[in-house]
Amino acid sequence: MTVLFVNACLRGEQSRTLTLCREYLEGVDDVEEVNLAELKLEPYYGPSAAYRAQLEKDGQFDDPMFDLGRQFAEADEIVIGAPYWDLSFPAALKIYIEHVAVMGMTFHYTEEGRCEGLCRAKHLTYITTGGGEVSAMNYGYEYLCGIAGMFGIPETRFAAAENLDVVGADIEANLNEARKVLSRLKATR
Ligand SMILES: Cc1cc2nc3c(=O)[nH]c(=O)nc-3n(C[C@H](O)[C@H](O)[C@H](O)COP(=O)(O)O)c2cc1C
Repeated sequence: MTVLFVNACLRGEQSRTLTLCREYLEGVDDVEEVNLAELKLEPYYGPSAAYRAQLEKDGQFDDPMFDLGRQFAEADEIVIGAPYWDLSFPAALKIYIEHVAVMGMTFHYTEEGRCEGLCRAKHLTYITTGGGEVSAMNYGYEYLCGIAGMFGIPETRFAAAENLDVVGADIEANLNEARKVLSRLKATR
């Protein structure tokens, strides 16, 4: 069973989100990691989007630009780790989603014009940490729930450590709250 770990923890080893992700993934044998800090993907613009759309239309999926989409579509479980930035997550993660949203690979349209997901994963687990409160305006997770629906992933799961930058906060206690949720999620993998 392949677990795809989308690592959008851009502060690398300093990232508290990455610590939680690593704990969650501990003991899992087959983890493929996509490190967005290293990949530095480019967003799509007019010409590159048009080029990609033409390849999708022609069913030419051998171009390397589709490798990330194929990997995402074939994973049995998706884990996304990203800090809470500007009420959602770093732009690098949105750009990654652009790269994996490949028509004919992660989703397609039926003859009746209905959008239908093509991904194998049974769930997507989103792990984040916030300087303040996350759950009141959880736009990053809400967006990823929409993407999971579009890609045909039936279940989404969420864990956050909140208030990590609040002066005087008990950071370890706040991280432990997320750890409790993650251990429950781990048990239902
Ligand atoms: C660019 C940037 C934007 C941020 N935006 C928010 C925000 O909107 N709300 C918030 O509560 N914290 C915000 N933070 C604080 C982070 O959510 C917090 O420090 C988080 O724990 C960082 O995760 P990390 O340790 O995994 O990098 C922001 C931090 C950065 C660097």
